[in-house]
Amino acid sequence: MVRGLMEARATKLRMRKCRVAVLISGRGSNLRALLKAAQADDFSATIDLVVSERDSDGCVFARDAGIETRVIDDKINFETKLHEWLSSRSIELVCLAGFMPILSPSFVGVWRARILNIHPSLLPKLRGLDTHKRALAEGHKEHGCSVHIVTEKIDEGEVLEQARLTIKAGDSHEDLAARVLKLEHKIYPQALDKYARKIALY
Ligand code: GRF
Repeated sequence: MVRGLMEARATKLRMRKCRVAVLISGRGSNLRALLKAAQADDFSATIDLVVSERDSDGCVFARDAGIETRVIDDKINFETKLHEWLSSRSIELVCLAGFMPILSPSFVGVWRARILNIHPSLLPKLRGLDTHKRALAEGHKEHGCSVHIVTEKIDEGEVLEQARLTIKAGDSHEDLAARVLKLEHKIYPQALDKYARKIALY
């Protein structure tokens, strides 16, 4: 019993945290959820860098929280500069959180299996934009969000976590957006914690 407890404690002490960068474009509510979760001692990742393609509310929040925050507003050299920042900060995993530009296949290839994204639909349904409006227009009975690994094909990588809700009569797309966002804030930290735990083992 005592030995078991000591071993569990030793394992915890040995647990290395995975270094994560979060990429954003706008308000950054998922970033906030990830930062909050990362405060827990037993969370498997640290958020060491936030990168945005423009100044945004998410940047303001990250800076105020004391996280290193970079705005790369150079569309042509964005990925080169991003790669330099990620490498210079020894980042191991990248979380896209409302990040709008589409990353090129060559960038995704270099960071293969090291980029996660949160998408507001039950993938593989409703890839792409305007998912809440399309869920209503197509008469879906349920909706939700997915955390997936980013691959060269948009919104197609392996799904790591999903959360679903029932669409109610009279729901507007704004109602759906608000309810799905709450679920996003729950599953993104969960998925990151699980995935980063595996990376930290290597
Ligand atoms: C979220 O709905 C996310 O699923 C989508 O973009 C939105 C970003 O919101 N990819 P926020 O910036 O995290 O508040």
